[in-house]
Amino acid sequence: MNSFTFSNGRTIKNTLVMAPMTTYSSNKDEFFSEQELRYYENRSKDVGMLITAALSVSVDGHGFFNHVSLDSDRNVARFSEFTANLKKEGAVIVAQLIHAGKLALPAEIGENDVIAPSSVPAKRPGYAIPKEMTNEQAERIVQDFYEATKRAIKAGFDGVELHGANGYLIQQFFSPYSNRRKDQWGGTIQNRLQFPLAVVQAVQKAVAELKPDHFIVGYRLSPEETGQTGIALADTKLLIDALIQRNIDYIHFSLSQFNQKGIRPETKNVEIGRELIDFIDRRVPVIGVGKIKSLKDVVAAHSYGYDLVAIGRALLFRPRFGKAIVENKPITFKYSPFMFIKNDLPRGLFQFLKQVIQTELTGKLKNAWRR
Ligand SMILES: Cc1cc2nc3c(=O)[nH]c(=O)nc-3n(C[C@H](O)[C@H](O)[C@H](O)COP(=O)(O)O)c2cc1C
Repeated sequence: MNSFTFSNGRTIKNTLVMAPMTTYSSNKDEFFSEQELRYYENRSKDVGMLITAALSVSVDGHGFFNHVSLDSDRNVARFSEFTANLKKEGAVIVAQLIHAGKLALPAEIGENDVIAPSSVPAKRPGYAIPKEMTNEQAERIVQDFYEATKRAIKAGFDGVELHGANGYLIQQFFSPYSNRRKDQWGGTIQNRLQFPLAVVQAVQKAVAELKPDHFIVGYRLSPEETGQTGIALADTKLLIDALIQRNIDYIHFSLSQFNQKGIRPETKNVEIGRELIDFIDRRVPVIGVGKIKSLKDVVAAHSYGYDLVAIGRALLFRPRFGKAIVENKPITFKYSPFMFIKNDLPRGLFQFLKQVIQTELTGKLKNAWRR
């Protein structure tokens, strides 16, 4: 497989990326458990780039049970050991940074309130009604992204990916459904862009100050939301233009299937990835993801136009999935939701997958995989 070089000069050894996947298994100190360290090590060997589980940047940003966090200095030394170990086989290691906003879990954020751009409840069941955050809180969270990026750099990460997808805080600010603010952070699309762009600027400031070599700043987005006032593809194109203008290093589409059609009435016959790849027209590298589970799928995703191809569940089921791809060998496993039973998954992730599969089997929740 070919290597790939970003415009900032960073080269990765091949175009396979481990998709960010939360593992629900950290210790009480909000650092990876031994099981998680082994899990990452086993999956780092064949990919060009590994994106970690979403790491919280703020004490009130935790969206998962047993969430790993970069919200303080206390684990920086251990993150340094983590990155040094994973880099041994040549993978580039990127930390995904998140604030969960209204999807924060009260049990995981101590005395803090669940806060969001506006007091609009999550569409997913089981979440608290958020409080509308103050201007100062919005600014503090932007600063938290800056501080977390500095920690990531000090800990030897090669880049950060901003989690602007799957309904978390950055997307909440961009969404006309979730963001009903009347101040500078809400209202017009230009205002709804302010928070995502302030975060990008803060992260790039941290990079400019610490000057790590060829540090990558990527952005993951969900191209659309359902509902009349959800994010439309036209909005996403404006976001993409703004990110390209600010020299983002890559854009990562969060899709359930890399070649899926849209989820809005006006896009139900439109292949979203294709439309956006054409729109981007090679101005920035694009990562595709979603049900890529064989050599054929990897080839198809590249021919589709994705520069890099992220693998999620197939890597859970087969830690050395990439080996077969890199060596151009046929994949010898049958992809099934039950495959994980045989693998070395951290306990919390195992429990989560079991629960998701049960819920999917009983038909209560579609796409419960997306996090
Ligand atoms: C267990 C699990 C945890 C996930 N956690 C995250 C996450 O922390 N951040 C994120 O952006 N996406 C997350 N996702 C979504 C994946 O990155 C990916 O987009 C999705 O699984 C589709 O790819 P796949 O079909 O190859 O699995 C998660 C998915 C799974 C299955």
